[in-house]
Amino acid sequence: MPKTIAALGVAGTQGGSVASHFLSLGWNVRGISRSSTSSSAEALKAKGIDVVQADVDDPQTLIPAFRGAHVIFAVTDFWAPYFAAFEEKSKISDRETGEYAYAIEVHRRKNIVDAADVMLKEEGSKLERFVSSTLPGFKEQSKGKHTYAYHFDSKADITSYLKEKNELWEKSSLLNMGFYADNIIWYGGFMGAAKPCEPTAVHPFVIPGDTGLFVSLLVNSPPKQDLLGVSEIGREVAESTATSAEFGWGDKLILPWQTSGVASLSVANYFLGIC
Ligand SMILES: NC(=O)c1ccc[n+]([C@@H]2O[C@H](COP(=O)([O-])OP(=O)(O)OC[C@H]3O[C@@H](n4cnc5c(N)ncnc54)[C@H](OP(=O)(O)O)[C@@H]3O)[C@@H](O)[C@H]2O)c1
Repeated sequence: MPKTIAALGVAGTQGGSVASHFLSLGWNVRGISRSSTSSSAEALKAKGIDVVQADVDDPQTLIPAFRGAHVIFAVTDFWAPYFAAFEEKSKISDRETGEYAYAIEVHRRKNIVDAADVMLKEEGSKLERFVSSTLPGFKEQSKGKHTYAYHFDSKADITSYLKEKNELWEKSSLLNMGFYADNIIWYGGFMGAAKPCEPTAVHPFVIPGDTGLFVSLLVNSPPKQDLLGVSEIGREVAESTATSAEFGWGDKLILPWQTSGVASLSVANYFLGIC
């Protein structure tokens, strides 16, 4: 009997990769979207994904969407609320939009964690792994120097919240996605480190389509992993495309083919050499 994964953001980048990968592994894939009848939902259904409707702003819709799943993949989008509010909020102050999007992402992630926790405690719950797509806290890692990386700190703060849910945390693992390699395309072929950075600064690029691979590594490994997802091809793309950046590559990055199970990596390495 195949197991079931419930993937948030199935119509998006990370959730879509998770859905495709687990489908290829023969799992039942339940994809969560705000609409189960949109054209993207219909396209996902045609591939064999069971698309269910739920909204991370409405926790009551999440519990049935999670019920019966062996694995839950959690992701939220910081940037849609940020860009939707930018024009108005940026007039107030340069931090207003970030603080606004931070609050929305934390609220949505709490809804997800709370719903997973409720579902886990239900009789007959099959939940084996809760995989949270997260990022390390910039404020903490920079020892208070950088206080504006709201899309990192929102996710780090929700990891702290997840760790307070003892029973759920015992079944959880964290996936820190590196910089999407296709950011380079978005940024017009340029991506560099602000000076003065060490030339050995580590820039962990990832092909976002590898998300599913990283999640399956976490599902097949003991819980409470803190994995930095990096794709070697991301490095190659970054190096061949970037025109004026000094890239350095550490030896502490986890590459898919170097792992048997999942090695544990201190997320402090994420910031190695970043000034
Ligand atoms: N870009 C990078 O380099 C990078 C690196 C690491 C981490 N990240 C993080 O990745 C996250 C974004 O993930 P992604 O790239 O997979 O995003 P994405 O492709 O934009 O997909 C976002 C998904 O969220 C769903 N969604 C939005 N609002 C929702 C709601 N209220 N309820 C339920 N679902 C909702 C959307 O689904 P529907 O429209 O179908 O509802 C959509 O499929 C961000 O938080 C970002 O900080 C980005």
